[in-house]
Amino acid sequence: MAKNSGRLLITGATGGMGSASSLLAAELGYSLLLTDLNADKLRDLQAICVERGVACDTCVTDVRDAASINDLAKRARTLGIDGAIHTIGLSPQMADWRTIIEVDLVGNLTLVEAVRPAMNPGACSVCIASMSGHMVPANEPIDALLADPLSDNFRERLTALAAGESSIKHSGLAYAYAKKALQNYVTRHAYSWGSEGKRIVSISPGLIDTEQGQLESKAMDNFEEMRSLVALQRLGAAEDIANLCLYLVSEQASYITGCDILVDGGFIACMNEQQEATAAGG
Ligand SMILES: NC(=O)c1ccc[n+]([C@@H]2O[C@H](COP(=O)([O-])OP(=O)(O)OC[C@H]3O[C@@H](n4cnc5c(N)ncnc54)[C@H](O)[C@@H]3O)[C@@H](O)[C@H]2O)c1
Repeated sequence: MAKNSGRLLITGATGGMGSASSLLAAELGYSLLLTDLNADKLRDLQAICVERGVACDTCVTDVRDAASINDLAKRARTLGIDGAIHTIGLSPQMADWRTIIEVDLVGNLTLVEAVRPAMNPGACSVCIASMSGHMVPANEPIDALLADPLSDNFRERLTALAAGESSIKHSGLAYAYAKKALQNYVTRHAYSWGSEGKRIVSISPGLIDTEQGQLESKAMDNFEEMRSLVALQRLGAAEDIANLCLYLVSEQASYITGCDILVDGGFIACMNEQQEATAAGG
């Protein structure tokens, strides 16, 4: 890839995929605006990026806090953004179901939309979803509610739904429903983003070897069985996701929008194949 002169916003920047994306972006010559929860970790990452010769601003942001999102949006508007890589997310082992929906879906998309006006024409927003969004069964009331996570009375409607719909109250399912809703958001909003000359896409990683990935794999009884379904016979690395993120924000990807890209080493393909064989009695 050629050296770049634009500025990228990377959220969840000190996490596994966020730091891999930040370091690759610095290597490619992008200026950076990095954001995450922890100021010390951000400072350390900033120092490495600056050492690599790029301009690097940071901003501590908690997506559960509207004022903090506004501060980031203001900073982004001042600087101007040529692409955004949104990696923020809590996994099922990290939080209860409601916090997962608050952070992975509502907070994440509030931030995505808050920085949208700061994005220059041609810019792309890359949202990290999950292959679990491809695995969760359809549930009409849950899918309908999560389709509109930025509506004014979303939290009240979520509480009302949860009173009669127990599957949303399971952190693993809430995570999968939130990630599916993120994939669907990207599809439904591509036209509106396109009318501003901007793109929006999601990436659905499979089993990726980051701290979050390791936390989840340790908690799974069937992890070895899951792992055996990866066609490429290895876990993904944070860099596998970072490489695609940097491609998607680049000019080379200028006709890609409104879709989800699975980066799962062939897991979903093998799982579907196995389920079809089982259903056929094979
Ligand atoms: N690792 C995997 O196997 C895997 C698989 C599929 C999808 N994902 C998704 O990919 C994304 C990145 O995963 P990762 O493995 O790099 O995880 P990670 O935990 O290393 O990074 C997530 C980042 O989000 C930040 N964050 C959490 N809550 C926040 C909040 N309220 N406000 C602001 N920032 C907050 C964390 O500080 C962290 O740096 C996540 O959305 C995750 O759900 C991961």
